[in-house]
Amino acid sequence: EWQMASFVETSVRELKEKIGGGKVLCALSGGVDSSVAAVLLSKAVGRQLTCVFVDHGLLRKNEGDEVEAVFGPEGPYDLNFIRVNAQERFYSKLKGVTEPEKKRKIIGEEFIRVFEEEAKKIGAVDFLVQGTIYPDVIESGLGKSATIKSHHNVGGLPDYVDFKEIVEPLRLLFKDEVRKAGRELGIPEYLVSRQPFPGPGLGIRIIGEVTAEKVRMVQEADFIYREEIVKAGCDKGLGQYFAALTNMRSVGVMGDERTYDYAIALRGVNTSDFMTAEAAQIPWEVLNRCMTRIINEVKGVNRVMYDLTSKPPGTIEFE
Ligand code: XMP
Repeated sequence: EWQMASFVETSVRELKEKIGGGKVLCALSGGVDSSVAAVLLSKAVGRQLTCVFVDHGLLRKNEGDEVEAVFGPEGPYDLNFIRVNAQERFYSKLKGVTEPEKKRKIIGEEFIRVFEEEAKKIGAVDFLVQGTIYPDVIESGLGKSATIKSHHNVGGLPDYVDFKEIVEPLRLLFKDEVRKAGRELGIPEYLVSRQPFPGPGLGIRIIGEVTAEKVRMVQEADFIYREEIVKAGCDKGLGQYFAALTNMRSVGVMGDERTYDYAIALRGVNTSDFMTAEAAQIPWEVLNRCMTRIINEVKGVNRVMYDLTSKPPGTIEFE
């Protein structure tokens, strides 16, 4: 049994020793792992740490501002925080691209390019922080990752950024231990208990071409869905739940008018390891409430569906 208080204390001491007066760079995604890693480093070396947060315009509603509120100058931590608003850049790269693997590749590469540009501005970096956790270590050891989908995480960065050494303060922790460490470090609960969110973000929850308008639709629908799930107390048992935008438009009627708009797919899965999953039995009245709200509140959407597909044969994400 790990004692989190002593884990934090020991890590901070070891990080201080290892880093000395060196300059440290961290790619902060706002996910649990990179957030906890960043705060540990901040406790250890303060302003020697710079966190670069790339907002690729494919984050959930309000997410960029939430990350900034915690890690930015108004937040409680001592570190340098750089937010790069790269939305337009990503949207223009993705224009006209419909093939899922191509989209993933573009998002991953553009992410690295943006990060690399920021790293260059910062200058010579001694240490690069990675939020690698124990299951990542095992998975890459077995070489079984990324055969079905090319997963993009910051794991691809080291080749592109000039630095001396990698620091992986979480490499011996399981996910629940990372969350405990996060709580110990005073990171807000909504960041610590966040469900997994893929690196390519909403880019793989919009089937087909990504546009700013489609991002808006999926963000708003997803926000409503998550809000209703939490309100109904259904979030506890769910492994992952989110909205996706299908590439299907269909006919509907709104008042006296015919509509020809997009369909949102709601997904909710029970899973223990994300390798297999089953569609969750979300109460009908909760789904119904989401349907009504999404159609009324999200412009451009006139149909809502619930995805029943297990994994396998489906995947959890849509692309
Ligand atoms: P799939 O869709 O393969 O997803 O059933 C399994 C789990 O992995 C997450 N996922 C990703 N996570 N980068 C990530 O960091 C990615 O590119 C990526 N693709 C999928 C997905 O959210 C689910 O938890």
